[in-house]
Amino acid sequence: MKKRLLSGIKPTGDIHIGNYFGAMRQFVEMQDNYENFVFIADYHAMTTVLDAAELKKNTMEIAKAYLAVGLDPQKVHLFRQSEIEGVTELCWIFNCLTSISTLKLAHAYKDAEAKGKPVNMGLFDYPVLMAADILMYKSDVVPVGQDQQQHIEMAREIAKTFNNTFSDTFKLPEGVIVKTVATVKGTDGRKMSKSYNNTIGLFDSEEVLRKKIMSIVTDSRKPDEPKEPEECNVFALHKLFSIDQVKEISNRYKEGKISYKESKDILFENMNNFLKPIREKKAELDKDEKYVLDVLTQGREAAQKVANQTMSEVKKKVGLI
Ligand code: TYM
Repeated sequence: MKKRLLSGIKPTGDIHIGNYFGAMRQFVEMQDNYENFVFIADYHAMTTVLDAAELKKNTMEIAKAYLAVGLDPQKVHLFRQSEIEGVTELCWIFNCLTSISTLKLAHAYKDAEAKGKPVNMGLFDYPVLMAADILMYKSDVVPVGQDQQQHIEMAREIAKTFNNTFSDTFKLPEGVIVKTVATVKGTDGRKMSKSYNNTIGLFDSEEVLRKKIMSIVTDSRKPDEPKEPEECNVFALHKLFSIDQVKEISNRYKEGKISYKESKDILFENMNNFLKPIREKKAELDKDEKYVLDVLTQGREAAQKVANQTMSEVKKKVGLI
């Protein structure tokens, strides 16, 4: 029997190359060797997206993104989190096993608090719902970017608490975080994230892509001045998109033989070549939304079967049935 892989992405409308390298690329590379559950975390998105049309649109964008980057619905159960009955019930059961003091340690909550942003209960409870996602399917591996590591640790803690309180039920999942892409940087050098407005979208048009690349922040060193590749935000992206040229570009930086403008031009060429087929596949899917919806229905049925088994086991163990 194959081990199970599970992961998800929030439909917040900003699917970007950080999501791709940090998570989606791993889903694609691992899809042959696991039984795969990959979903659209629409309930999680509601902690920030409170607009029906936007949520629907973003949800389809993620479904198409999964298919456009190469997930094969014959190998991967693709589904919407909210369509699986039981996941919010499991979240409730886990809520009753999780202390407020633990949730107060969660980075997303702490950041929002520190910035004085309003914190809704959804945001506060975010890690518990995520534990329900992960544990529901008895997942073995969870490929994610670095920012999700704490959530996976919390899911493991919740699994242990449940197992100790009732009896052995949940597996302890392992996070899969690929070091070189654990945190992909955005155009300003901070972590690529919608909240920093520094993303490069997976589906950005050629024109937008060029503009964003030209806006990447650099220092003011002149073309013939030696430059430090490891300190350069453009070079960080060369490592992802210019693999064959990375050594040569690094040498040219150190020898003062490349301007930031030329470095950006090369990056644009390579990124555009990489993103073009993904963009094209997405355009095809835009014309056939019925196919995308069929894939989600098929995925839902497979995921629901597993969820039903887990929920009947859990409800018996806790005394609800
Ligand atoms: P989300 O939607 O914020 O991000 C989706 C995935 O992309 C990764 N990621 C990055 N990786 C590297 N560099 C970046 N700059 C970058 N930005 C985002 C994230 O780490 C993530 O793997 N809570 C999750 C969604 C979720 C989930 C789950 C994931 C809900 N339930 C269960 C795994 C298992 C989230 O908000 O991801």
